Amino acid sequence: MSQIAFITGATSGFGRAAARRFAEGGWSLVLSGRRKERLDELKAELESKVPVYVAELDVRDAKAVQDMVAALPEQFRAVKALVNNAGLALSPGPAQGVALEDWQTMIDTNVTGLVNVTHTLLPTLLETGAGASIINIGSVAGQWPYPGGHVYGATKAFVKQFGYNLRCDLISTGVRVTDIAPGMAETEFTLVRTKGDQSASDKLYRGTTPLTAEDIAEQIFYVATLPDHININRLEVMPSRQAWSSFAVDRD
Ligand SMILES: NC(=O)c1ccc[n+]([C@@H]2O[C@H](COP(=O)([O-])OP(=O)(O)OC[C@H]3O[C@@H](n4cnc5c(N)ncnc54)[C@H](OP(=O)(O)O)[C@@H]3O)[C@@H](O)[C@H]2O)c1
Repeated sequence: MSQIAFITGATSGFGRAAARRFAEGGWSLVLSGRRKERLDELKAELESKVPVYVAELDVRDAKAVQDMVAALPEQFRAVKALVNNAGLALSPGPAQGVALEDWQTMIDTNVTGLVNVTHTLLPTLLETGAGASIINIGSVAGQWPYPGGHVYGATKAFVKQFGYNLRCDLISTGVRVTDIAPGMAETEFTLVRTKGDQSASDKLYRGTTPLTAEDIAEQIFYVATLPDHININRLEVMPSRQAWSSFAVDRD
């Protein structure tokens, strides 16, 4: 049985931590992202442990995704776990102040990009059959509304529902689908969301105990290595020090 993990967004955060976790577990790795130098660094770090293939890839470009998968060397072709992790949030302020371009970038990356990769790798995963996994990184924002969540939360709701619907069609194929939905986790996520505001990122995580990238990598690896007959549909993970709050009420 092949043990190859294909991870998008492996240059940072959950994706990079997942690459390290799968390497520890002895899996071969196909790693992608837009920042090539980071991919090269990760390959140099991990290739003494396992075979590693890296490719510069923007998931928004369907043709680039197809070409990249078509060009995979033979030893990296039989993918067993697809980790659809590449994604981002932009503009944490109210919807009424957000540039259309930011909404489009989130949709293009979190929805279209994830669909591009899933569609391209589905035949491979079907060939792998029992025990293959599609592990989508959703978010608590896909389930729970909050101020400033606007399109980001909606893209993650898509990720959740797309996964559920895939499960219906893949029921007899052995290919599993999971939506891992993290809460607050300290990665480069907030730096990207605030377009480089390190102090805003530091402030968000200060004085509490957010999840780490390694916490989520552990969940991803756990889901990918469960016995073939188990499918976790959705795994929502928050720090112990995060929970919901009350409904907002506008008053005079
Ligand atoms: N951190 C959180 O609190 C949190 C909570 C819930 C869900 N999530 C989700 O978790 C996933 C990973 O985020 P993270 O927290 O690890 O943030 P991160 O540290 O910013 O990592 C995001 C990764 O996505 C990649 N990426 C972004 N746009 C891409 C594109 N167009 N094509 C290919 N790769 C792209 C980035 O690589 P390049 O820039 O090199 O392309 C990077 O490797 C995302 O889907 C995010 O929405 C995060």
